[in-house]
Amino acid sequence: MESLAREKIKKAVVTAKTIEELEKIRIKYLGRKGIVTQAFKEIKSLPSEERIQEGKKLNQIKNLIQTLIAKKDKEIKLRNRNLKNEWLDVTAPGLKPQQGHLHLITQTIREIAKIFQKIGFNRVRYPEIEWDWYAFEGLNMPPNHPARDNWETFFIQDLENKKYGKGILTPHTSSGQLREMEKKQLPIRMLNIAKCYRRQSDISHAPMFYQFEGLLIDKDINVSHLKGTLDFFSKQYFGPKRETRIRPFHFRFTEPSFEVDVTCVICNGRGCSVCKEGWLELGGAGMVHPKVLANGGIDPQKYSGFAWGWGVERLFMMKYKIPDIRLLFSGDLDFLKQF
Ligand code: PHE
Repeated sequence: MESLAREKIKKAVVTAKTIEELEKIRIKYLGRKGIVTQAFKEIKSLPSEERIQEGKKLNQIKNLIQTLIAKKDKEIKLRNRNLKNEWLDVTAPGLKPQQGHLHLITQTIREIAKIFQKIGFNRVRYPEIEWDWYAFEGLNMPPNHPARDNWETFFIQDLENKKYGKGILTPHTSSGQLREMEKKQLPIRMLNIAKCYRRQSDISHAPMFYQFEGLLIDKDINVSHLKGTLDFFSKQYFGPKRETRIRPFHFRFTEPSFEVDVTCVICNGRGCSVCKEGWLELGGAGMVHPKVLANGGIDPQKYSGFAWGWGVERLFMMKYKIPDIRLLFSGDLDFLKQF
């Protein structure tokens, strides 16, 4: 098998200059009458031990030749390519990689947190899976109280605590109020932004949504502080021309309670088909009920405070006049890319 010396084959392949030359080498070794093909035939008559040995060697050589040829083939073709057909302009501007952005809700949450940070509110997060006590009873809504109907609650099967009652998915961020008070760090300036859950589903309500809850507790806090804080926020978020107003309302955990309105973003307060005579409703607020303070271990004789809880999606929808909350959860890129 002198004629199959590897070095010799290697040299032949490496020095080949054209595809035709390379093809000749292939035929010489691997063609139907090629040296390797012949050698395979010859070893058939050998005793089986030897035949296996020789067969192995031949296979190795065959693989080697194929690999060498394939490599050389690529090399020759690369060298032969027609450069005139290739476009290269090193001064042309590059292709900009597509860039995404944070989801609109995440953006809004960060914006809200930033605005309230300026006036000293600390962002916190409390459990989404909550006890009845924190979401209802501790907030002055005893079991079976009809006010609970407004928070169409998801209950968790077989989850119950002797002291704190049933396990639920928190229907509002107000459940964070008592948890914050329990930290026993006064004064309090809390901003609780979290997911909330209610059994609801239509163009302005989703079963999962976000709220941002503010809670401020200190000495000598009154309604004007509440009004000033929410006014500051509205102007920062919606723009300096926004006005806010508070209307009497009822919540069990605040006294007095309010609904907060902001001048309509569409008609600027003049009155149009979308708003109530120039006003759009933002959400609930009020002065923390003395009972709630006491439940949180705070002396209502010494301290007072205010709270509000508004929807993050609602805020965003109001600013950009989005008609359907489901757009925010749909992953529709044509919609999302506009922001
Ligand atoms: N938790 C109330 C809601 O979900 C809003 C609210 C928060 C009202 C704090 C008053 C004070 O509707």
